[in-house]
Amino acid sequence: MSLPMTVPQIARTKRRSGAEPIVMVTAYDTPFARIVDEAGVDLILVGDSVGNNVLGLESTLSVTIADIAHHTRAVSRAKTSAVVVADMVWMSYHTTTTTAVENAAELVRAGAQAIKLEGGRKRLAVIRAILDAEIPVMGHLGLTPQSVHAMGGMRVQARDKLAAEELLADAKALAAEGCFAIVLEGIPRELARSVTEAIDVPTIGIGAGPDTDGQVLVLHDLLGLNSGPAPKFVRHFADLATAARDAVSGYSDEVRRGTFPSDEESYHAPK
Ligand code: KIV
Repeated sequence: MSLPMTVPQIARTKRRSGAEPIVMVTAYDTPFARIVDEAGVDLILVGDSVGNNVLGLESTLSVTIADIAHHTRAVSRAKTSAVVVADMVWMSYHTTTTTAVENAAELVRAGAQAIKLEGGRKRLAVIRAILDAEIPVMGHLGLTPQSVHAMGGMRVQARDKLAAEELLADAKALAAEGCFAIVLEGIPRELARSVTEAIDVPTIGIGAGPDTDGQVLVLHDLLGLNSGPAPKFVRHFADLATAARDAVSGYSDEVRRGTFPSDEESYHAPK
């Protein structure tokens, strides 16, 4: 078993210093947390994407802090070497800093080693308060799904010069405040590269091109468990939906033919 990864180690991981890219992936339950940990990822994100990927919700906006705590407990039971980061859901850090710190603490008690929250300079007070409670914070800029209505849909962000400058200023502010890493989602590759060069903490990209210090994908996307159209940055590294459907129809056929279970798969009364 490898030595456990830590937040300070992640915070020092910059590719410009010769480090390998950071690998982050989502997981929402114990078996998949074990699998991704055995595969050697650095970070496991219990994302609010649990809403779309596991709970059958249309967006992440209906996911509650109790949902994330529940799934974080499941992930932490896998006792991973990877650092477990739990997502602060919409409205869990938007009212008072006290509520935000209490919600972050609930996720740490559930087994998270760090939390992630969306937004730039307007979230600095909340980030400071959570860091003051000794809870490491990962930032998240660009296409931030909790702002879907404010953004007018899930669209690539910061394509124009002014918006790119704003995002760069946000990233510098989050890094200066003490975020140990920043997710960059759905922004032009060129901007992601500039942000990565400009700050001393690692950037972790999703739909932000290959020049960031690491990458994150939703596990159900990379395993091919989701049906329907996917954004262009999603690569399916497997087709588990087909494999799972084939397995269950094989089981159904054998049950209907009467060939499952066999005598060898049955218990027998003593002679
Ligand atoms: O919830 C999530 O899965 C995320 C990643 C896409 C970064 O926030």
